[in-house]
Amino acid sequence: MFSGIAHRYDLLNLLLSLGQDRRWRRRAAQLTRLRPGQSGLDICTGTGALAARLRARVGPQGRVVGLDLTEAMVAGARRRVAQVEFVVGDAVHLPFADDSFDAASMAFGLRNIADHQAALAEMLRVLKPGGRAVILEFSTVSRPLGPWYSLYNRTVIPVVARLLLGRAGAYQYLTESIAAFPAPMVVSRWLRDAGFEGVRYHRLSLGIVAIHIGFKAHG
Ligand SMILES: C[S@@+](CC[C@H](N)C(=O)[O-])C[C@H]1O[C@@H](n2cnc3c(N)ncnc32)[C@H](O)[C@@H]1O
Repeated sequence: MFSGIAHRYDLLNLLLSLGQDRRWRRRAAQLTRLRPGQSGLDICTGTGALAARLRARVGPQGRVVGLDLTEAMVAGARRRVAQVEFVVGDAVHLPFADDSFDAASMAFGLRNIADHQAALAEMLRVLKPGGRAVILEFSTVSRPLGPWYSLYNRTVIPVVARLLLGRAGAYQYLTESIAAFPAPMVVSRWLRDAGFEGVRYHRLSLGIVAIHIGFKAHG
């Protein structure tokens, strides 16, 4: 499915989030707390938008890797983002050694992975002790916004998708997967079950998205 939308992915994100997606990724990048010279991994990197922000944080002495399962997404990322190493790979079998990265991020990826516990376990494994995971994902909106948000998801998204992609199927999946994704407390439990410490989350835009954070224990 992601191969079929790769060429319009950034424009669709911008339109459907009313420009908020950039702000959400900027906050996620800040929350990695990556510093110059450090290393970051962006899992489910798509067209590399968050990886580019990690790159800006680590500077020329640092290293950022972006990983995605879809070749067309990775090809787009390579064209758009310089100085990030992009690899095709699966979040549930990361091709990296244990304790490799100071921070690992994932934006709008977890929702698409059936075995979320395996993906979280892999994220933890490749982090260095004390390393930080930052996961940006759709969440549960606050009550007053709820009905309007569902209406927007059910009506506007399929129309915009049909206009830009010539079909609505992919974005029907988007609306269904957003509705099916659990509340942030449940995602916090997933992180704790995977072995993360200091688990917490920030809600943004009245809960349209949440940023989940967890650490790998020292030693
Ligand atoms: C909604 S896009 C998010 C892209 C990007 N992180 C962003 O913020 O725009 C989800 C991405 O996850 C990738 N993906 C889905 N399952 C994956 C898996 N098991 N391993 C790695 N990438 C995966 C898809 O190819 C797609 O590019």
